[in-house]
Amino acid sequence: MVNMENNFHMTEGDGEHSYAKNCRRQEMIMLEGRPIVENAIKELYKALGPKTMTIADLGCSSGPNTLLFISNLLDTMSDQCKASECVELQIFLNDLPGYAPISYYISGVPKSYYSRLFPRQSVHLFHSSGCLHWRSQVPDELYARGFLNEDNIYITNTTTPLVVKYYKEQFDKDFSLFLRLRHQELVSRGKIVLIFCGKKDENVYNGDLNKLFGLLSRSLQSLVSKGLVEKQKLESFNLPLYGPSIAEVKTIVMQIQLFRIVHVKLFESNWDPWDDTEGDDIHNNALSGSNVSKMVRAVMEPLIASHFGETILDALFTEYACLVSMHLEKEKTKFAMIAMSLEKI
Ligand SMILES: C[S@@+](CC[C@H](N)C(=O)[O-])C[C@H]1O[C@@H](n2cnc3c(N)ncnc32)[C@H](O)[C@@H]1O
Repeated sequence: MVNMENNFHMTEGDGEHSYAKNCRRQEMIMLEGRPIVENAIKELYKALGPKTMTIADLGCSSGPNTLLFISNLLDTMSDQCKASECVELQIFLNDLPGYAPISYYISGVPKSYYSRLFPRQSVHLFHSSGCLHWRSQVPDELYARGFLNEDNIYITNTTTPLVVKYYKEQFDKDFSLFLRLRHQELVSRGKIVLIFCGKKDENVYNGDLNKLFGLLSRSLQSLVSKGLVEKQKLESFNLPLYGPSIAEVKTIVMQIQLFRIVHVKLFESNWDPWDDTEGDDIHNNALSGSNVSKMVRAVMEPLIASHFGETILDALFTEYACLVSMHLEKEKTKFAMIAMSLEKI
């Protein structure tokens, strides 16, 4: 079974398959959120005028994007300093304990953000980019009576509505817990800027994550048919993931009544991390398939290796690159990203 705290982290080091070398899409996504962070900082300055501003990046990973967040922050702060009195900055970097973001952390908080991380009323701004679609765990119910999701690893066309319901409940539980915890840790009128994968509309079967991981399910199924993976091994594997719609996210924020929504929007970002074109044409679907496969491998490799063993990785991601490239030939697919800014009431 998948254990987030022990088995989930991005591929380490700086080799060919590392997250550090394959995080361009996440970089683009973080840059899209930059103006929202800048606004949040300006508003915090104006409203609270803190002498020390405490900022935490949740799910910082380790690699160039960790540094990018900090350098963007320093740019924003120095602009702000020119405009008003200088403040001191305290930055915390958080990720799961499997990580040790040693070389550049300012203060590291290696703990799940689904638990308390900071003292009461001590943080001005939380930022998290590319993380909150990950759940704290696979819903327990998926394993309670056999393997309910059969040979799917996320919600795909053959997933039953009951399994969808369990995934959605896990999202509701995790997201409201996350917000309650951060509410305790934020100073009054403190802010949260979140950017994460979602879905464009309410169709739970038709989000782009369903497609991305439906293709990974099919790649694993193909290894089963070749005798490289046991069927039961596949059936006992599900991803701790859920891409919500804006309406689902808003519902939770409204229900808990602890935050005001300052800003929320949906933007799209091509699957292929090296494709910056707008529009719906794919210029080289074989290359795009390979690029997407590398990006997904950098995120998923440790999780997949801990369940299936390292020996399947090359065969799995070669098959996956092929299936993604065939999919992209028919339909250029983009991540539906949710960006939101919240203020503590
Ligand atoms: C795709 S990476 C994004 C990293 C970085 N923010 C970026 O934009 O490149 C997602 C990160 O979220 C972290 N993560 C997932 N669940 C977490 C949790 N419960 N607590 C802390 N970090 C978590 C993962 O370990 C991973 O480093």
